[in-house]
Amino acid sequence: MRILVIGGGAREHAIAWKISQSTRVQKVFVAPGNGGTEQEFENIPIAATDVASLADFAEAQAVELTVVGPEAPLVAGIADEFSQRRLPLVGPSRQAAQLEGSKVFAKDFMARNSIPTARYATMTSYAEGEKQLDADWKFPVVVKADGLAAGKGVFICSSEKEARAALDLICNQRKFGEAGNRVVMEEYLQGHETSYMVFTDGRSVVPIAASQDYKRALDMDQGPNTGGMGAISIPSLISEPLEQRVLAEIISPTLAAMESEGAPFQGVLYAGLMLTAEGPKVLEFNVRLGDPETEVVLLRFQSDLAQLLTCLINKSLRTVQAGWSRQCAVCVVIAAQGYPGDYQSGRIITGLEKSREMNNIKVFHAGTRRHHNQLLTAGGRVLTVAAASDTLEEAVGQVYEAIAVIHFDGMHYRSDIGARIKSK
Ligand code: AMP
Ligand code: GLY
Repeated sequence: MRILVIGGGAREHAIAWKISQSTRVQKVFVAPGNGGTEQEFENIPIAATDVASLADFAEAQAVELTVVGPEAPLVAGIADEFSQRRLPLVGPSRQAAQLEGSKVFAKDFMARNSIPTARYATMTSYAEGEKQLDADWKFPVVVKADGLAAGKGVFICSSEKEARAALDLICNQRKFGEAGNRVVMEEYLQGHETSYMVFTDGRSVVPIAASQDYKRALDMDQGPNTGGMGAISIPSLISEPLEQRVLAEIISPTLAAMESEGAPFQGVLYAGLMLTAEGPKVLEFNVRLGDPETEVVLLRFQSDLAQLLTCLINKSLRTVQAGWSRQCAVCVVIAAQGYPGDYQSGRIITGLEKSREMNNIKVFHAGTRRHHNQLLTAGGRVLTVAAASDTLEEAVGQVYEAIAVIHFDGMHYRSDIGARIKSK
């Protein structure tokens, strides 16, 4: 098979790595890819959002399966374009991608379909937001820009002052541009956060091992929200009865309602869950694999990814069962100075050869590029270092040992990924 993976992050590096292990895969293209995928696969210099050029490429190269990593091309309608041209692609239509593309759409969808989520209100201006604050909200409240903001448009506000500042940033300063045309304010949910993803052909699902993302920039969950600074996936994250509850109360009704509302969902449905005392509630939906969650779950994936995705496209997912190892997987993101704000690029990265020789370590590239035989930083999240082992403690130790030999100016990472968690 000839495969095209769209995107240029560590998630896409991991997808290409896993899919290339299938005996039926001969060729993997990554568009646009990064300095890591360039060495192992073939990078194609087409931006992930250049939908027409990607479809032209897939057609010309007789690509048999396209996998979309990031949300932006899905929200822009890449699945619709590929479907019109009869090109097989894993990912939802533009309409179904609204589950991630618009928080207002997702909240209204959940409300009308009784899918458990936080109480919320929607507003379209700073003045409306201020009025909401006069109503009966308990602090903290969560203020969210409606549209895509790479995980950065969400503010947990512990006082009215902080809530006004978040509203000001979104509505007046237009920090997130069009994504801030509408704002969601919602009640703060308490509990453990879990990323729960499934492969789905619209009706059947193949559950993906549960994982947990570390969203805040700094240790002890301090600092601003990021796209994700690390993740773990361990067998004990979610119990069997709780998983059944998530499938019955959240995943199945969501898929059924998407179909009955005329937007059947195909691809990966990702529910960001808060496991509250009252049961699992949805914090957000994503319409694709998580990053960095993918880097840990694929370390535990023991089946043939190309075959699974082919069945997904052919709507025969009910015939597939995926195997997941009982191992504990962890990954840590190394970011550039300044991330998640403005960051520096072009710093020389050293030590990767040495880390590659280390026991059990997988380094996935994100914002990297090669220039005159040197590897340079070229993004906010630069590398994801991952390992899976029999215990979480062992995997964590291996990852941090590998990070210790990697260097670039200004690099920063969290030192507490996988800490304070019991793996058994
Ligand atoms: P979102 O992009 O909506 O998932 O929000 C990003 C992060 O903010 C989530 O992963 C949570 O850590 C946090 N968050 C969002 N909504 C809530 C909420 N209602 N209660 C508590 N934390 C939240
Ligand atoms: N790590 C969270 C996400 O992929 O949205």
